[in-house]
Amino acid sequence: MSVNGAAKRAGVPTRDDIFDLLRAVIDPELGADVVSLGMIPDVVVSPVDSTGGVDVTVWVKLTIGGCPLRGQIKKDVESRVALHPAVRNVRIEWGEMTSDERSEVMLKARWSARENAPDTEVPQSCRILAIASGKGGVGKSSVTVNLAAALAAQGFTVGVLDADIWGFSVPRLLGISDRLEAVAVEGSDKPKIIPNTLRVGKGQLKVVSTGFLVDEDTALMWRGLMLTKAVEQFLRDVAWGEMDYLLIDMPPGTGDVQMGLARMLPRTDLIIVTTPALAAQKVAARAADMARRSFLRVAGVIENMSSFTCDHGETYPLFGVGGGQALADEIGVPLLGQVPLEPAVGQGGDAGVPVVMSPTGGAAAAVFNSIARRILDDIAPPVNMAGCSARMLAAVAAAFDQV
Ligand SMILES: Nc1ncnc2c1ncn2[C@@H]1O[C@H](COP(=O)(O)OP(=O)(O)OP(=O)(O)O)[C@@H](O)[C@H]1O
Ligand SMILES: [Mg+2]
Repeated sequence: MSVNGAAKRAGVPTRDDIFDLLRAVIDPELGADVVSLGMIPDVVVSPVDSTGGVDVTVWVKLTIGGCPLRGQIKKDVESRVALHPAVRNVRIEWGEMTSDERSEVMLKARWSARENAPDTEVPQSCRILAIASGKGGVGKSSVTVNLAAALAAQGFTVGVLDADIWGFSVPRLLGISDRLEAVAVEGSDKPKIIPNTLRVGKGQLKVVSTGFLVDEDTALMWRGLMLTKAVEQFLRDVAWGEMDYLLIDMPPGTGDVQMGLARMLPRTDLIIVTTPALAAQKVAARAADMARRSFLRVAGVIENMSSFTCDHGETYPLFGVGGGQALADEIGVPLLGQVPLEPAVGQGGDAGVPVVMSPTGGAAAAVFNSIARRILDDIAPPVNMAGCSARMLAAVAAAFDQV
């Protein structure tokens, strides 16, 4: 049963529904979901309380008790289970595998890597953030390219997927126009598309957009055709290679792409962009609701086009006040930042240089950088391949040698 299968059923979750939700929790080191790996020995759903809600207890067996990924797995388990509307509290009971269980899980991981050819070319250890909103023109694309550049500047490899298939703007915003090339790849019978790359500080961007395939007039003619198919192809047929983050610039106002993502990459986290107007916040709440229905996690809200500060230092809330915080409170996620309305953001877009990459910086750039920091430290930390991973990978290698 798929995650979406569980989503279709309303009411009280069964034990199986919870297991289905947990299939979206990936152990990044082992590259498979925690259920298939046998890391979830049991789940208990409490009797229904007077509000129609239930508490869920999940038993999680870690490969190594002191594994630094524990915090990440805890967060992922809690937030995935809490996606079910009837779930009130999630409790985790921790356990540690015996050495026999550990060997078994490693064999399973190996089997899963070999037998379940991945659905997508996006590496398992890559964090996926989709930048969405309830309506157009609120700054999704500007937020996407600036956050991507800010993360890359910290030394990370960041993919940018322009999922606004027929209304693409990423090529212009990043000043890239090279056509994408497809090359034959070893181990695949189909050629793969090689993303365009852009160095940013110590890191780099890997960028894919239909804008690199068709010109804007042709794109308009195709509008409405095969939206989800195009995104699917970008996930399957692009040789993304190693990547710490994939940022997806979502098209305005369509649920199709979101549902497609939920099916193909259920570990996608959404970041919702809204303007400070309270009316906009209502529209954005619909996007959050759609996220819940497709069982994607909302990681946070960004308020864009917040106040405008004029040359004399006077600040004006041109588009209202409080929409971002109200939306964040309503869906129970953090407000990641308030990006001011600043001409430099638009000018950077026109020049093909995101404002975070401009040497002059400015208030908007500072907020984008602080949101990137928050993503790195808290919201979606990069999958740590040091620490316990090194030990684990050595152990996996040893287990492989025994077979
Ligand atoms: N903080 C900001 N300050 C000034 N201008 C901004 C800011 N954010 C976005 N803009 C401008 O607003 C316009 C819309 O932004 P953008 O294209 O990023 O929005 P979008 O949500 O991706 O739109 P669409 O729904 O059409 O894809 C652009 O001209 C952009 O330069
Ligand atoms: Mg856009």
